[in-house]
This record gives sequence, C-alpha cells and structure tokens, in this order.
Amino acid sequence: MARRPIIAGNWKMHNNKAQAKELIDGIMYGVSQLDASKMPEVVVAPTYTALWQVYDLIKNEPKIALSAQNVNPNPSGAYTGEVSLDMLADFNVKFVIIGHSERRQMFGETDEFINQKAVAILEKGLIPIICCGETLEQREAGVTDAHLEEQITKALKGISADDVKKSVIAYEPIWAIGTGKSCDAVEANRTIGEIRKVVAKLYSADVADAIRILYGGSVKPSTIVEQMAQPEIDGGLIGGASLQADSFVDLIKGAM
Ligand code: PGA
Repeated sequence: MARRPIIAGNWKMHNNKAQAKELIDGIMYGVSQLDASKMPEVVVAPTYTALWQVYDLIKNEPKIALSAQNVNPNPSGAYTGEVSLDMLADFNVKFVIIGHSERRQMFGETDEFINQKAVAILEKGLIPIICCGETLEQREAGVTDAHLEEQITKALKGISADDVKKSVIAYEPIWAIGTGKSCDAVEANRTIGEIRKVVAKLYSADVADAIRILYGGSVKPSTIVEQMAQPEIDGGLIGGASLQADSFVDLIKGAM
C-alpha cells in the first residue's frame, strides 16, 4: 500500500507573531509553485501563541495542514497553562505532536501520559504524531530496538487497529536532534522497519503497512533525498531546518 509522505515542521519555541507570519508567508509562496498531486502532506507546528494567526493565513491553502506541539488530554478544567483538544479543534488543527524527547526529558512526561494524550487525540478525530527514540547511551548499549518497542507498545495501549492506521510515528534518535548529526539513512530505515514490526506484532501486517513512520533528527535539504529513498521512511519531522521558508520548501521538494 502506498503511504503518503509527510514533511512536518516543528517550530518548537521559536517565532513571535511577526516571525511566524514571515515564515508561513514564505512557505505558502513556495508551495504555491508546487504541483499538489505530487506533494507530500505538508504540516507546520507553530507555538500556541502563533496558532490562530497561522490558521487564519493558511485557511484557504489546502496544501498545508496545522499541527500543535502538545495538548492536555483532559477535556477542560483547572489545568493552569494547558490547552485542550477542543481548543485546538477550533483552529482546524489536524495533528498533535506527542512524546517528543524534549517533553519527556525536560518536562517529565511519562509513557502513560503520552498514551492518555494519544487516546484523547484520536477520540477527538485528530492525528497524533507519536515520537520515540533512544539516547546515545542506549544505542551504544545495543538496547535501541527494545527501548523503542517499549515506548511504542505503551503509547498505543488501548488504541484500536483503525485508529493506529491513521496515526503517525516519528522515530527521533535523541542524539540526532538539533546536533546537526543525522542518523545514517540506512540505519534509520532499519530502525523504522523494526518499529513497523512492533506494530505488526501488536496489531497486524495490514496495520503496520498503513501507519506512517517519519524520521526526525537533523533532517536537512542535503539529507532528505537519501532519507526519502528508504522504503520504510515515510517523511520527516524537522526542527531547525523548518525555521527558514527556503529550506522547508526544499525539504518538501526533496520528498516529491
Ligand atoms: P531537528 O529537530 O531537526 O532540529 O534536529 C527535530 C525534532 O526535534 O523534531
């Protein structure tokens, strides 16, 4: 089955209002020149403060979809500083990034909390981009595959096969994020193949064949073509190289 590639830009904690406008204007201009029938699914994940503006600017541009960088799984209530799925749905948010290593490491998010988010996101009809990845120590100790199996198994707990088919996983080795040192494309392909085997074991070959699995970690215009040539890699989740319109548009072109 052909899986439609995704190029997703994770803006992290970058871009005030003016910067977000400049970036999305540049991306919109770039994608306006591209043939929609050949394009990957293009996703941008601004900060909450820029969501409304970006939503408004792209609302007539079907080539770009919106993602949030996080969500609270509770429907509403006394959760100071948090944002609900209902609020995201107001802005036509289609995807939500969850389980990013920065949230796991800096904000203490557990596999159980990430699973709660995945369940709530799918219940609301949005799509989780579930991040997983190993530390350098885990890779050197040879426990990468076992670690990823644990993260994926816990993240997908209680989720139906149909919902898993719609979901997206992003394999992001922690040592490759923001370091400029991308994981070797062949090794990223192998690892993503192992993640797909975990999904096949938990569900079926059919589900594993349907779910889109991205690679993330220092993806650049100079690496994307080789990465996209790998059969298991269905696209990229990109931080640094998504913050300039030219480079993000080059990444989109690299996935066409
Ligand atoms: P990077 O970030 O492209 O800057 O390495 C990727 C990510 O954290 O999603």
